[in-house]
Amino acid sequence: MKLKVLFFLLAGSIGAGAQTTPVYLDESKPIEARIDDALSRMTLQEKIAVIHAQSKFSSPGVKRLGIPEYWTSDGPHGVRPETMWDAWDQAGQSNDSVVAFPALTCLAATWNPEVAAEYGKAVGEEALYRKKNMMLGPGVNIYRTPLNGRNFEYMGEDPYLVSRMAVPYIKGIQSNDVSACIKHFCLNNNEINRHTTNVIISERALNEIYLPAFKAAVEEAHTWGIMGSYNLWKNHHNCHNPYLLNDILKKQWNYDGVVVSDWGGAHDTDESIKYGLDMEFGTHTDGMSMNVANGYEKYHLAKAYRDGIIAGKYSQDELNDKVRRVLRLFFRTSMKRDKGFGSLCSEAHYATARKIGEEGVVLLQNNNILPIDIEKTHKILVVGENAIKMMTIGGGSSKLKAQDEYSPLEGIRARFGKTATIDYARGYTSITNTGGGIIAEQTKVIKGVNMKEKRSNDELRQEAVEKARNADIVLVFGGLNKHRYQDTENYDRKDYEMPYNQNELVEALLAVNKNIVFVNISGNSMAMPWAKKVPAILQAWYLGSETGRIIGGILAGDVNPSGKLPYTWGQKLTDYGAHALNTYPGIKRANEEIYDEEYKEGIYVGYRWIDKEKIKPLFSFGHGLSYTTFKIGKVSADKKEVSQDGQITFTVNVQNTGKRAGAEVVQLYISDLKASVDRPAKELKGFKKVYLQPGESKDVSISIRKDALSFYDETIHSWKAEAGEFEALVGNAADNICSKVKFTLR
Ligand code: BGC
Repeated sequence: MKLKVLFFLLAGSIGAGAQTTPVYLDESKPIEARIDDALSRMTLQEKIAVIHAQSKFSSPGVKRLGIPEYWTSDGPHGVRPETMWDAWDQAGQSNDSVVAFPALTCLAATWNPEVAAEYGKAVGEEALYRKKNMMLGPGVNIYRTPLNGRNFEYMGEDPYLVSRMAVPYIKGIQSNDVSACIKHFCLNNNEINRHTTNVIISERALNEIYLPAFKAAVEEAHTWGIMGSYNLWKNHHNCHNPYLLNDILKKQWNYDGVVVSDWGGAHDTDESIKYGLDMEFGTHTDGMSMNVANGYEKYHLAKAYRDGIIAGKYSQDELNDKVRRVLRLFFRTSMKRDKGFGSLCSEAHYATARKIGEEGVVLLQNNNILPIDIEKTHKILVVGENAIKMMTIGGGSSKLKAQDEYSPLEGIRARFGKTATIDYARGYTSITNTGGGIIAEQTKVIKGVNMKEKRSNDELRQEAVEKARNADIVLVFGGLNKHRYQDTENYDRKDYEMPYNQNELVEALLAVNKNIVFVNISGNSMAMPWAKKVPAILQAWYLGSETGRIIGGILAGDVNPSGKLPYTWGQKLTDYGAHALNTYPGIKRANEEIYDEEYKEGIYVGYRWIDKEKIKPLFSFGHGLSYTTFKIGKVSADKKEVSQDGQITFTVNVQNTGKRAGAEVVQLYISDLKASVDRPAKELKGFKKVYLQPGESKDVSISIRKDALSFYDETIHSWKAEAGEFEALVGNAADNICSKVKFTLR
């Protein structure tokens, strides 16, 4: 009897399978039809399961329907090493070493969207190989204060520049059928009190400065994932915020992807259900204060939601919308059949990492000392802990297990070792006076270099000074280092100064040797009181696996630097509006653990503030030198007047007037000469990087439309371009405008 029943059941299912593939598995069917079909087959339990985590970085899929587990990973500079199922510790695998790409600040400094596309594609290939379906990046929060510990993961202060770099990066990742997850949406501009800061901001500043990169990611790059930020806006956490997620993202921008919570960013079941969250990750359970082992059932979008539906407290409308979005994500990524395999640590990826670094390093200052003259330089002294320190460790969630990280000292030895003696002195140490779990990792012996250091900074400085007396050139590697309070997640910097007595070190070295090149490693600006006294300063970011090769090549002149600052480098903290107006880090409410932070500077962020207040920064937004020289000619416009739906093109000739091949970034800023509202003196609205051989010249054309002339009008809650006179300013830095032309918007 039993056998008979089984036979009929089998015959039935085989018969059905032979005739039709279920719609949801049929890739020839439209995705929306597949979603309808899958949704109709899912039980309540299964629907709830796909909208929250089952481990630190995964959600379960629907095994019964053949929908695999969904795997995410950080992001954004390479694929993070595997962690334990339910703990942050590394799992200790030996197959998860990756290429560490330069940090996103460096990518932004290339001012080259093609490089951003290559970056995204390469990182996506590594993710695919590691079987990840979603990369948690890129980060696009605006550089509002140089104290923000995560600026190194972001792309600077200008919404236009960030947007132009983020769009190709996202498209590059997603070309691998791996989702991007742009983060952190939004107004997450400092790390201090990151879970408890409630931002107060004008509608105009929100739209003109803080939203554009996210909007471009949604509307142009069609990002499949977006991560809510930890902070609050209008008194709601941004992982469940009705204004941000429902009104702006999902209604105004028609976003059809998923909103992923930042890890532990969901705080309330009702709000998580109603206010836009689709996938919940990383929640601390037990009332949100501490982790409970495998406590995933306790998430807001787990048992509480399911019980609420069964009890009739919640309808399934919101749930079905969330599940539809999640299924759409599955069909775009994990359920894609012809995904390919990706690749890990390929030569091509190393080459990409090198190229990003070579184009992104910024020559901030150079008084005839770089590139190093190999014929005349026989004794090189390298000073500084950052010449030997691994920078892919630390920093928080973007940390990586690099298959190789080639240090600056290694790079210098390899490049100059045949023609010069290379000596090294540590000069200062960070190991004794900072905390954090990375110290243990850092004190390991890495490639023969023992990071342990018992000597004091005075002793280390003394040693460096003695060695510097006889050196032909002294290359000092300093800056920050991704320790706590020094460019890392969850901790802002405490002040604008260089840490670890580096100022004393530089001054002491200058007293015995003037030939100093300071190579600054950081994702932030800082005070350099000695800046005018050292002949050269190079901004070398966090360059990842290829660090040493990139720096060696640039110091030797094999590579001509072409990076430009993606943010303003102030002389002091009050060169930034947020600090000049004393708005940072917000004011604690009397009886609540909430800090209200009012962005009083409004739209005047970075160079917009500098222009308004007529400040002279140490180095301007867009600034960056080269080993050759360029002449930017007179800009012309193809018309005198442009209509509201028209386009106007500006053309300028750029010539390489020096002796080396190199690249210049032509920057187009727009100035509204008369407006009904206060407008910045100028705003970046176009740029192009041009590569020129010695003597070569090229015409560079940049076209704009009315969006480049618009401001956000709070009275109509929309963008508006006012008829009248404008000026196009062309130059190679915000403080170096070479030519201007006026035009009229009709
Ligand atoms: C960070 C995110 C990251 C996530 C997962 C959070 O603490 O803010 O940027 O993607 O952790 O590691």
